[in-house]
Amino acid sequence: MSSSLQEASRKTPGWADKPQIWLNQIIRTRKRSKLIAMVCLTFVFACAYIFLAPISKEPESFLIIARRLGISSFNKDSCSKSAAHSFSPILQQPTRIPKASNPPNQTSSPPVSGSTGTTLDNIVFGIGASAETWDQHGQRYTKLWWKPGKMRGYVWLDEPVENWPNFPDSLPPIRISETTSQFNFTNRFGPPSAIRISRIVSETYRLNLPNVHWFVMGDDDTVFFTENLVQVLAKYDHNLFHYIGSNSESHRQTHDFSTDMAFGGAGFAISHVLAKAFERMQDSCLHRYPHLYGSDERVHACISELGVPLTKEPGFHQIDIRGDAFGFLSAHPLTPLLSLHHLSAIDPLFPTMSQDKALLHLLNAAHVDPSGILQQSICYDKKRSWSMSVSWGYAVQVYRGILPSRELQNPMRTFATWKGSPDHIEFNFRTRPLPDDPCLHPIRFYLESVEHGGDHHSTTMYKRAKAMTNNCIWETASPTTLDSILVLKEKASTTWFKVPHRQCCDLTCSNANHLQIHVGSCREGEIIA
Ligand SMILES: *[C@@H]1O[C@H](CO)[C@@H](O)[C@H](O)[C@H]1NC(C)=O
Ligand SMILES: *[C@@H]1O[C@H](CO)[C@@H](O)[C@H](O)[C@H]1NC(C)=O
Repeated sequence: MSSSLQEASRKTPGWADKPQIWLNQIIRTRKRSKLIAMVCLTFVFACAYIFLAPISKEPESFLIIARRLGISSFNKDSCSKSAAHSFSPILQQPTRIPKASNPPNQTSSPPVSGSTGTTLDNIVFGIGASAETWDQHGQRYTKLWWKPGKMRGYVWLDEPVENWPNFPDSLPPIRISETTSQFNFTNRFGPPSAIRISRIVSETYRLNLPNVHWFVMGDDDTVFFTENLVQVLAKYDHNLFHYIGSNSESHRQTHDFSTDMAFGGAGFAISHVLAKAFERMQDSCLHRYPHLYGSDERVHACISELGVPLTKEPGFHQIDIRGDAFGFLSAHPLTPLLSLHHLSAIDPLFPTMSQDKALLHLLNAAHVDPSGILQQSICYDKKRSWSMSVSWGYAVQVYRGILPSRELQNPMRTFATWKGSPDHIEFNFRTRPLPDDPCLHPIRFYLESVEHGGDHHSTTMYKRAKAMTNNCIWETASPTTLDSILVLKEKASTTWFKVPHRQCCDLTCSNANHLQIHVGSCREGEIIA
């Protein structure tokens, strides 16, 4: 987070300041409410005496009444620290049932195979690298997501590296690209390797591997979330021409290249039949584009000659942003996370870890509930006037004040543009500024641990990042007293990949330093407000 960016957000007036003004009014009116609250409390105590006195000897009937009144977790012990840390599945049983939709036998984790029969076995990866970058960062990021023996693919280098072919088994095998000296490259700024990298599609096709549905290309600093990738590709027919990927986060990048181009580092997929047609024409096509900049631009130019449009899957992330990507990642679009690129340009995803450790931490959660990773759920503690935003497997944020989901689902500008400019119009999506008042910054809780809770649930624990340094002397309760948040989440149904739907959340239990939140499919008619 650069200070210049904070400066800029401070200067930005308008819509984003509204929740703040509104909140300040609430806090002022709170003093008046205090008097009313005391009168109400007296009334409640009187009622409680009359109502509860006869049954106080029978705790079971109290339970029944509590349940009938919708008090699901009046028992303070269920929120105790020991309970929270034991991850006992019984203590954290959801109290939201009965559900209107999603019968239990539909909430199981997605099957390996999708509707078109595509599994991980039907994908071949082509990782674009060079001998120089491979030693620097290629091995570092590729080994985080690569599953040896379970995936097919190659790393394509310009020349052999030192330890090749005694390459660790934990990495994809290496191939050396064909020479590209027959092609002219006239772009003064672009990397001449762009021709070589673009030809990975054709060279992989020419390997003639059996049972390939999809060719997936990426860089050596791309991390793929392969469980989700399989589910997303399985939606599409690999016997038809498909070119699937996404744009840059940078407006300028998208403008300078194309809105119809799959940005290569984010990763993109080409169906088998399209790869076949592409391989036939790519080399003659490349001669028509010596002036282009990158490899992805060249692939796009030739696919355009085949008349095939880009199918956008916004879960592929080029990450053309810099700095603290928290605001971006914690408001992930309602779509499966497929990839993260440019991981050296952003701060470690978890501030107490190296980027490699942080990515493993995130991938670890993704393996437990792939469709859930980074998915946002929003709920409120109306009593304490807090908004809670869960970005599953990554972080939970607690805001002072009730912010509508329309606000919370916009990324907060904790990050800078690719070029480092503070101009937020440069982002290819809507963002919101960090509030001027530090008391209105959300309190962050980062993922600490994740556990399977049977086939249908997971339990994740989040710990507060750091104490707020400001003096927020407000009458509204302070979320800074919280240490940890436990989230019990139902896995989404398999139809989620076809029609994503935000899961709802409920505060099931809370005390001064701990919250428990349940995330699951919404009840019929339930709204996020
Ligand atoms: C789900 O449960 C219903 C009723 O119990 C049953 O008829 C149906 O076959 C089940 N579906 C699956 C996919 O198991
Ligand atoms: C490469 O550029 C040179 C100079 O412009 C031109 O003479 C030559 O024909 C080009 N070669 C190819 C293969 O296009």
